[in-house]
Amino acid sequence: MRISLFLLCCVALFASCVKDEFKDDGFISDPKTGPKPFYLSKPDQFIDYTISPDNPLTVEGVALGRQLFYDPILSRNRNVSCASCHKQENAFSDPSKLSEGTHGELSSRHSMALFNLAWQPLFFWDGRAPSLEQQAFGPVANPLEMDMTWPEVEDRLNDHETYPALFEAAFGSDNIDSNMVAYAIAQFEYTLVSADSKYDRVQRGEESFTRLEEAGALIFDNETSDCFHCHNKADGQFGSFEMRNNGLDNDIDLNPGYFDVTGRALDFGKFKTPSLRNLAFTAPYMHDGRFETLEEVIEFYSTGLHVNQTVDPFMKQAFQGGVQLDEKDQEALVAFLLTLSDSSLLTNPDFSDPNK
Ligand code: HEC
Ligand code: HEC
Repeated sequence: MRISLFLLCCVALFASCVKDEFKDDGFISDPKTGPKPFYLSKPDQFIDYTISPDNPLTVEGVALGRQLFYDPILSRNRNVSCASCHKQENAFSDPSKLSEGTHGELSSRHSMALFNLAWQPLFFWDGRAPSLEQQAFGPVANPLEMDMTWPEVEDRLNDHETYPALFEAAFGSDNIDSNMVAYAIAQFEYTLVSADSKYDRVQRGEESFTRLEEAGALIFDNETSDCFHCHNKADGQFGSFEMRNNGLDNDIDLNPGYFDVTGRALDFGKFKTPSLRNLAFTAPYMHDGRFETLEEVIEFYSTGLHVNQTVDPFMKQAFQGGVQLDEKDQEALVAFLLTLSDSSLLTNPDFSDPNK
């Protein structure tokens, strides 16, 4: 018994040393040992994350992905990078309703905030990408966004002065292919973790809510307003990421949402249920950016709901237009939602443009 306890301590000690070693930020790996594993820590209040098993994070892979995320080389006119539409100061979303691509044309939907992606099962407003790796292929080839072909991207990177060595360090080959590009970008995106909002500090007993915020928390959690059913807080994310119709008056023929992916009539008008973290930085709201303020969003849930065939059963109040919150309750709900914003995401130096 004593021996096994001793062994356990040794293992624990060893594990903690290894963990510390992961913090080493060296960019180029030792060719003998290969890339160094990158340890992504899980905030206590979150459930376990999922990273594609064939894309384990490495220090070199994450650093390369960060470089690519900020590099306009991936766009036709070398003028737009991922970060052009996913800005750190906006929790990696875009304050514009629609975003400008490489030719100055507008994206068809509002840009999405990027954080806690390792906890999300599918990507895009209509859920069409089943993994973060798959997602990264989208914007590069999208004519409204970066408008490149993958062979052209591969040529540009293979001819580049520094990228071949960085790919060699991350993936053991300097013959760059599209998979390596998408995998490296996904590795960086997985590291964008946000878990230090006022709400989290209140849960840890370090701060307390104001009266107004507390009142808002009760409204969020009650069965009538029902926010918590879809924007699930049990796993710490405040978004189930499930595809649902929350009662917007979409023209479902023009904007079929999840139907485009499944072809099933019952999926008309369904969109990904987003996290409600970091709303202070991510206006405007919804897949089309139709609401400029949180007050407008709450007004919509209160009196602006529309009923159609696929409206979600959790929108119980849709038949009377919404949950009918009075002005005071609306104010409280907004105050509570704002406690979910984590400004450290905007200033974390590990997430910023590596060339600045
Ligand atoms: C021109 C603006 C633009 C550029 C450039 C752009 N994006 Fe996006 N991004 C968007 C828009 C708009 C959406 C939502 C599109 C949709 O749902 O149809 C989106 C969605 C995403 C999502 C899905 C997030 C979620 O929660 O489901 C990820 C991840 C993402 N982008 C990463 C990237 C990466 C990586 C790059 C660079 C390779 C990139 N984006 C380049 C505008 C852009
Ligand atoms: C039936 C599930 C469901 C319920 C219940 C629900 N929502 Fe949503 N919520 C969604 C979906 C789906 C979206 C995205 C819809 C879209 O863009 O088309 C969304 C979007 C939002 C957004 C915009 C987020 C962004 O990044 O653009 C906010 C804010 C929001 N909901 C708050 C609430 C509040 C507050 C309540 C309770 C009054 C609530 N929701 C109830 C499913 C739901």
